[in-house]
Amino acid sequence: MPTTFEDLDRVIRRKEMDDVLARLGRKYLIFSGKGGVGKTTLSVNLAWTLARAGYRVGLLDVDLHGPDLAGALYLDAQLTADEQGRLIPIQAIPGLWVLTIQHLLTDENQAVMWRGPRKTRAIAQFIGETAWPELDYFLIDSPPGTGDETLTTVHHIKDLAAILVVTGHKLAINDAYKAITCLKRANANILGLVENQASLICPECGQDIEIHDPLNAQTLANKTELKFLARLPYDPKAALMAEKAQKPLVEAYPQSPLSERLRAFALSL
Ligand SMILES: Nc1ncnc2c1ncn2[C@@H]1O[C@H](COP(=O)(O)OP(=O)(O)O)[C@@H](O)[C@H]1O
Ligand SMILES: [Mg+2]
Repeated sequence: MPTTFEDLDRVIRRKEMDDVLARLGRKYLIFSGKGGVGKTTLSVNLAWTLARAGYRVGLLDVDLHGPDLAGALYLDAQLTADEQGRLIPIQAIPGLWVLTIQHLLTDENQAVMWRGPRKTRAIAQFIGETAWPELDYFLIDSPPGTGDETLTTVHHIKDLAAILVVTGHKLAINDAYKAITCLKRANANILGLVENQASLICPECGQDIEIHDPLNAQTLANKTELKFLARLPYDPKAALMAEKAQKPLVEAYPQSPLSERLRAFALSL
């Protein structure tokens, strides 16, 4: 039983958060040790594929210092709140709702200067005090490493499945070990790993050229006892076409081998 007003407040907030979480369907956190390995690309293309397949998908950006979802979705909007003060996610396409702090910033070069407690509070709000509709999938794009943003997310969402994104480069592999160890210690359920930019699709001939030793990521999977979920090629043409079309690459260049593998992976979730 609650004994103080503070306890009571905590119990009510937890109950509110749990009520919201119960409506969000399957929950996935996309994380990594290093930056630039493809977390945002993966999050956006998985979410897009699932929404186009008829599912209801929420996509949350907990990368507070380097938010990218608005840019990756070419989604220009301003966040508003409902009469209860809950943030209203932006609908990108039918079935896809997005929440990113980018839509709160007045200038695209504005930096978020928050530290620990402010960040923790903001993330709790993005999850539990947001007018998320009833969802089938809830995907969370995180910053690299295991700072406040990632650990707060793991703390609040107990039935989260985390997906590690890594490239075959030794430095990315080393940082991935640390991120996996940290998330395991935080009792997160890690679903497995995705090796991104594993090979290069030649824009001229379409051939697959190995960039990194495939053993690097495989060894990481073996040592950490994680499942290898997908191996995705680097496809510069797909990235270019996405930029030109201002659409995620599964939409801009659906016949690319990268899009094919992204779609297959999304529909396996
Ligand atoms: N498989 C890929 N093929 C082509 N370009 C990619 C691929 N994965 C990522 N990129 C590009 O690499 C850059 C970094 O990816 P991003 O998803 O922003 O990484 P992160 O979110 O981990 O920092 C982006 O410009 C993105 O378009
Ligand atoms: Mg990112």
